Amino acid sequence: KGCKLVGCGSATPNLMISNDDLAKIVETSDEWISVRTGIRNRRVLSGKDRLTGLAVEAAKKALQMAEVDPDDVDLVLMCTSTPDDLFGSAPQIQKALGCKRNPLAYDITAACSGFVLGLVSAACHIRGGGFQNVLVIGADALSRYVDWTDRGTCILFGDAAGAVLVQACDGSEDGLFSFDLHSDGEGRKYLNAMARDDETDHVLGSNGSVVDFPPRRSSYSCIQMNGKEVFRFAVRCVPQSIESALEKAGLTGSDIDWLLLHQANQRIIDAVATRLAVPPDRVISNLANYGNTSAASIPLALDEAVRSGMVRSGHTIVAAGFGAGLTWGSVIVRW
Ligand code: ACO
Repeated sequence: KGCKLVGCGSATPNLMISNDDLAKIVETSDEWISVRTGIRNRRVLSGKDRLTGLAVEAAKKALQMAEVDPDDVDLVLMCTSTPDDLFGSAPQIQKALGCKRNPLAYDITAACSGFVLGLVSAACHIRGGGFQNVLVIGADALSRYVDWTDRGTCILFGDAAGAVLVQACDGSEDGLFSFDLHSDGEGRKYLNAMARDDETDHVLGSNGSVVDFPPRRSSYSCIQMNGKEVFRFAVRCVPQSIESALEKAGLTGSDIDWLLLHQANQRIIDAVATRLAVPPDRVISNLANYGNTSAASIPLALDEAVRSGMVRSGHTIVAAGFGAGLTWGSVIVRW
């Protein structure tokens, strides 16, 4: 059985924060941020806006492009590390979309690799589980976990959502050629947002005894990152992963129409493209406008590239995600 991508969509918040805006709150400059990262603006959720709302907007656009009714969706995968509900946001999205047959919906937590994992999971559900229409959403609001006084991290992140619809098809039309996925828990020390251990509660039992309850982990720390180590990891591991996915698919770099990396830093994108000998005109990049939007960055960039006519039907794309966990991986798909 095959699977193919049949629609995409994206959504970003209205509130835009420029590099100059950030230079008013931390010691930085537009020049430093654009030269070191390529980022100029980012969008951030504000007021009562919720990530689920963005995800629903992106998903609706993907369904519209695919001309698929919400009732025909049988699986919703919400790839996010910043859910509105700790117990999972995907069922809320399923409800908001009005999927009447109560399809399965669950979250995947893998930070900036989340969307690639979601895409591969969708393919596995279709090939092994008989699913027909799987909505894969990548959405994150890292602005909620940014320390706005830390110039090393607050300049990087933005909020967004992107979605694709993956549909079952005949094996001859298969559009997901191969994948390569990894994680390394040792690297967590370089990038994390840990649950905070609050002080142990002392509770007086009914018989007068004092009971020490386990700590309440009711909040998370802001993003902690060693930027240099994350940079090194990305430049080392992402090309290896892409080469492995290409080999599994029996393809070479010249068979690829587009290189679509997680949008973390233009220097990472350029370094990976150089290592793989992919020319700049075959590299998709939109991080100047949105910053690093974590699990949303790949489907957001894909959606813009499809709607602008850059990516066309039949094009082969290698997409690679990398980030916290550490996690990383690549997938080769045909649009
Ligand atoms: N403005 C001005 N100066 C700054 C800023 C800033 N915003 N941030 C750091 N600096 C200073 C530092 O203090 C340092 O000063 P010093 O030389 O006096 O000590 C100098 O600039 C160089 O700092 P570095 O951290 O060495 O700068 P680097 O070139 O490594 O760039 C950056 C930092 C942009 C964070 C880079 O390391 C990077 O992009 N790393 C990858 C990060 C990433 O992609 N993370 C997300 C992964 S995805 C996920 O899962 C969430």
